[in-house]
Amino acid sequence: MSLRKTTVFLNGVKRNIICDPEKDTLATAIRRMGLTGTKVGCGVGQCGSCSIILNGEIVRSCTRRMKNIAENSQIETIEGIGTASNLHPLQQAFMTYGSVQCGFCSPGFIMSAKALLDQNVNPTREEVRAWFQKHRNVCRCTGYKPIVDAVMAAAKVLRGEAIMEDIAFKMEGNQVYGTALPRPTALAKVTGLCDYGDDLKYKMPEDTLHLAIVQPRVSSHAKILNIDTAQAEAMTGVVKVVTAKDIKGLNRVIVPLDHPRSIMKGLERPLLADKKIFRYGDVVAVVVAETEEQAREAAKMVKVEIEPLPEYMNVLDAVAPDAIRIHEETPNTYLKQPVLKGALASDVIDESFCAVEGSFYSSREAHLSVEGDTMQGYWDEDGNLVIQCKSQAIGFNRLGIAYGIGIDPEKLRIIENPTGASFGWAASPGSFALMGACLMEIKDRPLTLTMSYEEHMHFSGKRAPAYSNARLACDEKGKLTALEFDVAMDRGPYTEYSGHIMEKVMRFMGWPYNIPNVTGLGRIAFTNHCFATAYRGFGCLQAYTTSEAIMDMLAEKMGMDPFEFRYQNIARDGQTNINGYPFKEYPMEEIMDTLRPIYQGALAKAKAESTDTVKRGVGIAMGGFNVTLGPGDHAEVALELNPDGTITHYNTWEDQGQGGDIGTLSVTHEALKPLGLTADQIRLCMNDSHRCPDTGIAAGSRSHFMAGYATIDAANKLMNAMRKPEGTFRTYSEMAAEDIPTKYLGVYDTTGTGTPLDPNTGVGDPTQAYMYGAFLAEVEVNVETGKAMCVGMTSVGDVGKIGNILAVEGQAYGGLSHSISFALKTNYDDLKKGSTMAGAGIPYCQEIPDKFDNIFLENPRKVGPFGSSGCSELYQSSGHVAVINAIYNAVGVRIYELPATPEKIKAGLEAKARGEDLKPKKYFLGSDLYDEIEEINTNPV
Ligand code: FES
Ligand code: FES
Repeated sequence: MSLRKTTVFLNGVKRNIICDPEKDTLATAIRRMGLTGTKVGCGVGQCGSCSIILNGEIVRSCTRRMKNIAENSQIETIEGIGTASNLHPLQQAFMTYGSVQCGFCSPGFIMSAKALLDQNVNPTREEVRAWFQKHRNVCRCTGYKPIVDAVMAAAKVLRGEAIMEDIAFKMEGNQVYGTALPRPTALAKVTGLCDYGDDLKYKMPEDTLHLAIVQPRVSSHAKILNIDTAQAEAMTGVVKVVTAKDIKGLNRVIVPLDHPRSIMKGLERPLLADKKIFRYGDVVAVVVAETEEQAREAAKMVKVEIEPLPEYMNVLDAVAPDAIRIHEETPNTYLKQPVLKGALASDVIDESFCAVEGSFYSSREAHLSVEGDTMQGYWDEDGNLVIQCKSQAIGFNRLGIAYGIGIDPEKLRIIENPTGASFGWAASPGSFALMGACLMEIKDRPLTLTMSYEEHMHFSGKRAPAYSNARLACDEKGKLTALEFDVAMDRGPYTEYSGHIMEKVMRFMGWPYNIPNVTGLGRIAFTNHCFATAYRGFGCLQAYTTSEAIMDMLAEKMGMDPFEFRYQNIARDGQTNINGYPFKEYPMEEIMDTLRPIYQGALAKAKAESTDTVKRGVGIAMGGFNVTLGPGDHAEVALELNPDGTITHYNTWEDQGQGGDIGTLSVTHEALKPLGLTADQIRLCMNDSHRCPDTGIAAGSRSHFMAGYATIDAANKLMNAMRKPEGTFRTYSEMAAEDIPTKYLGVYDTTGTGTPLDPNTGVGDPTQAYMYGAFLAEVEVNVETGKAMCVGMTSVGDVGKIGNILAVEGQAYGGLSHSISFALKTNYDDLKKGSTMAGAGIPYCQEIPDKFDNIFLENPRKVGPFGSSGCSELYQSSGHVAVINAIYNAVGVRIYELPATPEKIKAGLEAKARGEDLKPKKYFLGSDLYDEIEEINTNPV
């Protein structure tokens, strides 16, 4: 290797960089200097997280080789523009305006915005958006609008029209709950000081070893005949090549499946592939070496001999009569769940005044967090195997991997690193298990693993695609009479979270309407595409793809406005959902009454602004989601009084960027109000399995609800212990003097609070709380190119009392921006395109509207901490169908199979000109719906 010394002015200071000019990128060089505020997400120039200013120009430093960096170049990074005690206006504004969620993109955006404001201190919003578009700055969390808000606010300060105090949060009194207090981790994120996993890699002890995965990517379904590691093991620097035969435990990643209709139990996924490759991204070995480069070179030399098997890349092929079994022990369709309400839907539909039918496809969506998968591992001083990673489910993931790698779960410690988002994929224990398996082999040195973004894309789970057939009918007044549906979901080759997703589909189809007769079936099948895992909007989104589209179709056939058609069919007091139970609340009328004038205004505007080439349209969709995992959900937290009078809150409310930190702070401050603490007297100790009680998975929109109640419990216990007979509170010294414990566990458990869905009928009421909403999309469609753009999104949501405005708004902007991209472009069906962020369809700034309004009704809940409910998943429930419905409203083309690409819209327009509708034929999902219903009725479980 030939090295070069390059002298640069780094943040104004003359520094020498020693590097390999051919191999090292500017990003690598800067980060090796300790300036890890510059992040690397995609690593290939698509995301802008590595943006820095080079000689006055914004550049993506991951694509600049050091050989192209001139001597005496001026380099500005996030560390050079402001510090925690002397923030740049952009840094302050990003904190105040909710522009920081996971924060992984923030340094890149701030540097990019600084370069813009250096040139033009008075940009318009559209100029800011165009700048971020041009410079490829991607944020997957915020939906961009809060970032543009922050840039506009900071620009005012830079122009001298405002001062820093004007753009800082001002606390009124001592109120935290219900305010827009910025999240505690925001300061570290905007100053580049937050150490994500790949930053920690540079800060590990000197003897740290590096891992590289062997992901052959030669087949999606094959028998493994031989894995030859000899050549790799002989290479310089290689310490070990770990394969399945080295694994001490079961070599299985365990995510239990206990649905009575499944013979699969969630034990089928190998940690390292042993007998078969089940999908393209399976890993057969992990190389452990002295350097990352040595590990990667050796990984290329591991030889895998295979015998190809038929590959079933979608559920329709996997359930075809001639398909072979993907797992020997079960047919490819391994789980079925009916929903039966009232009379048989087919009988009612046949006699109804009006009916429509359709077949729909929800595509395979990648989460596309800007940070990929990265982690560290070591054995701690107490003999625990420690994995520092992005876990979204610390307690659950511990159990998920301990038996697989062969360790007592009590000796497995999982710590969540600061996390550049996941939106669900990090609920899956698979990659953490790889680290665990290597640590079982290497006990005397720490390890670190950074997957490339491409490796991560093929390794991580995705949203389950779903094919559905449905019919919907109404009477002559437009009152719904019956719904019939049959949905088949593709979970890839592993069952992960199958029972949970099935439940969601079977609850949110046709929600929140009054439908007296429903016959439905959910099926889940194995395929050889990527396995499916958690993703915001889990399961409900596939249901809405069907029911909110067919609702529009029926309204049209009846000659009714889709808004008013829905209005007369939304459930009113006492009316029941498709599972036979009343809704918990009935805010549907209020939501629609709030939205109606906006809808009417949008329709008029769309009509006025449509041209011959660009047609505008408006679409709506009703949405909602439940809160908690249902009966048996459990959360624990602990509160401890410290000697200095502060309180430490211990929990595992995993923070993936959604705001576990501000959520914890807000509920704690509110629960301890009688103590009169200020926000900074509450300390957070979070997300370490051996220091914090298990608060449960950060999913199912459950965290605020479950941790909130557990916090109230802990706070009451602590305050009761501190309370003196006259009502004042003991100090720490007084507690110590009286030998009163100062740390209390708070618990909330939902056992006995709900009824699981009956596996024979779908009747049930699993959760205590819900969120409700409606979404209005405004789109424009270019009839020449077929390209659709969402130019406006409005939501009216009822999530109960809001605990933190920035966090809830953040989920609304973020969830809806995912909905928009799900409707129009995100898709991992094509493995080649799916290798990269851009190829898989991540939306850039100008693809998400700046006209983005969220209206919150805040009806306090009777059940829910401080009147709150959940939040997150409401906002990624049905917004995508609002976009699809708006496209139809604009040009009369219905997109049945997502995403609505320009090619599909164009083909639809051409078909329409010929008087045709490109409607898919009814899908064959493995058997006849009513045969299956009869079989289930005859053989109940
Ligand atoms: S553009 Fe450099 S890391 Fe993505
Ligand atoms: S805050 Fe932008 S990617 Fe997470």
